[in-house]
Amino acid sequence: MKIVMLGAPGAGKGTQAKQIAAKYQIPHISTGDIFRANIKEGTELGKKAKEYMDQGQLVPDSLTLDLIMDRFSKDDCANGYVLDGFPRTIPQAEALTAALNAKNDKLDFAINVDVPDSNIVDRMSGRRMCKCGGTYHVKYNPPKKEGICDLCGGELYIRDDDKAEIVAKRLDSYHAQTQPLIDYYDAEGILKNVDGTVNVDVVFQNICSIIG
Ligand code: AP5
Repeated sequence: MKIVMLGAPGAGKGTQAKQIAAKYQIPHISTGDIFRANIKEGTELGKKAKEYMDQGQLVPDSLTLDLIMDRFSKDDCANGYVLDGFPRTIPQAEALTAALNAKNDKLDFAINVDVPDSNIVDRMSGRRMCKCGGTYHVKYNPPKKEGICDLCGGELYIRDDDKAEIVAKRLDSYHAQTQPLIDYYDAEGILKNVDGTVNVDVVFQNICSIIG
């Protein structure tokens, strides 16, 4: 099963992608997580990506495409994947389609988690992350113990790009460069819209009823 998650920053793509990956036993591939890991490790890619991410801008396609194409070639992708944060521009989507076509393959679903801008700032300002990949929200998805990850006991932190002024820029980038992918995948016949404003578990049930 090959799935692309679409939606604004903070819509809940990562939250849902992790659950999809666990249920369907496919890897969750998040370009944002890959960039953040590179930043933490101080790699050249991480240094370049940070310049853009700190400004709320997209990392250039030239840096993103090689990275993701390399990831698809790993053995764990043999039975599919759930992509979170990629593609994010029409050229990225076209490159993905071309790479799949070359292998006589295709995506199964593009799931658009639909959340209006008015909810996004609230989502981002309450988000808390763990280095193990756990994602929480102080109001909507709190950890059992404040500030501590349920999964590994690690200390939760706030993402650098979740500051209000950066969130506004990320939303601008989303509308200008990523939202057009909704029409792109609609034209491909694989777009499915889900209401992302309801409870996390209800969003997941709705996604499962789509993908089977
Ligand atoms: P990335 O990490 O992909 O960030 P994003 O797309 O902006 O999405 P987020 O991770 O912020 O949100 P999400 O939709 O996953 O929401 P989450 O599940 O965490 O990218 C970061 C940066 O990297 C980009 O700005 C760009 O610079 C760069 N980048 C990445 N990929 C790129 C690419 N392909 N090309 C170029 N540049 C790229 O949920 C958010 C919060 O809401 C959490 O607190 C969660 O607990 C809560 N929540 C989730 N669902 C619900 C619900 N149903 N109800 C209430 N709360 C909920």
